[in-house]
Amino acid sequence: MKFGKNTEFDRDFYQKNLMGPSAVRLIEEFAGRLPLIHDMRVLDLGCGTGLTSIFLVKEFGVQVFAVDLWIAAAENYERIRQFDLEDKIIPIHANAHDLPFSEGYFNAIISIDAYYYFGTGEDFLDRRMAPLLAKDGFIAVAMPGLQKEFGENVPEAIKPFWTDEVCETFHDKNWWKSLWEKSTKTTVKDCFSLRCHKTAWEDWLECDNPYAKGDVKMMEAEQGKYFDTLALIAGLKEKSIEVRK
Ligand SMILES: C[S@@+](CC[C@H](N)C(=O)[O-])C[C@H]1O[C@@H](n2cnc3c(N)ncnc32)[C@H](O)[C@@H]1O
Repeated sequence: MKFGKNTEFDRDFYQKNLMGPSAVRLIEEFAGRLPLIHDMRVLDLGCGTGLTSIFLVKEFGVQVFAVDLWIAAAENYERIRQFDLEDKIIPIHANAHDLPFSEGYFNAIISIDAYYYFGTGEDFLDRRMAPLLAKDGFIAVAMPGLQKEFGENVPEAIKPFWTDEVCETFHDKNWWKSLWEKSTKTTVKDCFSLRCHKTAWEDWLECDNPYAKGDVKMMEAEQGKYFDTLALIAGLKEKSIEVRK
């Protein structure tokens, strides 16, 4: 399966390594809006199995620090080696709340289908992300969310799937934009829905993965009415980054 201009994944490899709605579909669309330049230092935060890291290197020639909590760095290194990218991708096992990097280290922090697991707190952006950005750096996140906040009115069809974890982490664009606008260190440059929402979910639901099988029922109940895939981009205050429209 071909993504972007240079990235090719064997179908079995792709399906085996997806961990949710296709991160590759999301990054393929989202990256087109980002000012990515050859040799930039990029943090791929919550990279999972590293498919997005591979895509970023193959398409943009950036250097990636592929950080994840649930997937071992050694396991990601084996995958990275299959693509001969060990000089360009550095796999690291770390928690987003305690990252082992120097201030101003990254030109970009990118997080696909992961930020909602660790970034819903009010001070996360200022305390954990902004300090890591170089002066013209940016943070770009894409993740599942809602078309509109439910508040007290969770639709009947969704109730069986509305666990405490989903309730705390699934929000709409306005919720996330308001959260990021509380930041004293960054400015929101853009906030929008990704067009590949449906395709990204279809790819995931086709996978022979118990989590994907569980999500099939949820997406049948949802019928395209409530969920969305959101994207946000922010830069450090008073620094200009160019976001493509
Ligand atoms: C749904 S998976 C998505 C993985 C990958 N980005 C993708 O889309 O295929 C969410 C990822 O977030 C990572 N994650 C969750 N909490 C984290 C934390 N506190 N620090 C770092 N990574 C975290 C998990 O390890 C997991 O790989």
